[in-house]
Amino acid sequence: RIDPEMMADPGKLREGLKEAADALRGGGVIAFPTETVYGLGADARLTSAVEAVFAAKGRPSDNPLIVHISEVSQLDGLVKQVNPAARKLMDAFWPGPLTVVLPVKPGVLSHRVTAGLDTVGIRMPDHPVALALIEASGCPVAAPSANRSGRPSPTLASHVLEDLAGSIDGIVDGGATGVGLESTVVQVLDDGSVTVLRPGGVTLEQLAQVAGAPVKMDPALMAEAGSGDIPAPRAPGMKYTHYAPQGTLSIVAGESAAEVSDWISRSLQEAEARGERTGVLAFDEHISRYHADCVETLGSLSDLGTAAHRLYAALRRMDEEHIDFILAEACPEDGLGAAIMNRLRKAAGQTVIRLESQAR
Ligand code: TXA
Ligand code: MG
Repeated sequence: RIDPEMMADPGKLREGLKEAADALRGGGVIAFPTETVYGLGADARLTSAVEAVFAAKGRPSDNPLIVHISEVSQLDGLVKQVNPAARKLMDAFWPGPLTVVLPVKPGVLSHRVTAGLDTVGIRMPDHPVALALIEASGCPVAAPSANRSGRPSPTLASHVLEDLAGSIDGIVDGGATGVGLESTVVQVLDDGSVTVLRPGGVTLEQLAQVAGAPVKMDPALMAEAGSGDIPAPRAPGMKYTHYAPQGTLSIVAGESAAEVSDWISRSLQEAEARGERTGVLAFDEHISRYHADCVETLGSLSDLGTAAHRLYAALRRMDEEHIDFILAEACPEDGLGAAIMNRLRKAAGQTVIRLESQAR
């Protein structure tokens, strides 16, 4: 384990990263920080190493892994071609929380990385430790989030160890990650149109500004429970209930913030009266109105970056506190709000309680 104390000493850091890079090259699996969440890395060319990642996570084998690079020049060896529109997005957002799905070059990456698809998701993370590790390893690094499948993604090294201690070869502890939610996954067609397969750290608005072309969300991502047939999402991973806490989580939305918080307060009281342990995820603006066994604030509604940063740790807290009944305030879906609500909906099994306004 490489810890923050070693990180502070440049000599020790270099030594530690070399050890981690050697382990990757030797077929080991190493957890490392990125600017989004911790990843569980393996040499993307080695099937045995990639299989060890799937095994450690308990991940379904039909869910492909993202390949991480440290230099744009690595792309040529991995993909068939990059259209100009995709190139434009990479220029603007790499290194950063954007994964671009591209046609894979056959015979280079382990077939397990792409889960049999003819495309591969590639990203260059914006984290000095991640970039240094990838560079030192000299390999394309396949890395899903470093959680057990179905658990919230790890934003601290301790989350990784909670889920994976004993089943990985090492961890580089770089402290808390920044964004706190996974990268935005996009597919870019030759005509320049962009489809978001998973919303994340780069927002739709930012993509649209750079692409200068329509940006649409994969319709499967917007579905709610009870809204009829839900189409299959194009990012295979988005079909799984992820991030789900052990208790029952519902999102509460409504036109009036006062009505939403009244309803949440009342429902928490009723759950408490039933003998359940209660939890609430809410914004600073309303947090003082709630009484529950576990009250987690996501920061101010005017600063959704903080909500993204805190969300997964807050969901993990609900399990630590053995909460049975959890309510979460919805947030507006623009900017980072799209990614936050997408993860909340997945954690809630798509259950959104929409209050009809009584005010009209
Ligand atoms: O921020 C992130 O992206 C983090 C850090 C570690 O880089 N990684 C991450 O990986 O979130 P993972 O494996 O947990 O999520 C990868 C997502 C899944 O939803 C998967 O289905 C989708 O990306 N994906 C990967 N390759 C794909 C492909 N070729 N086509 C469509 N979706 C793909
Ligand atoms: Mg994941």
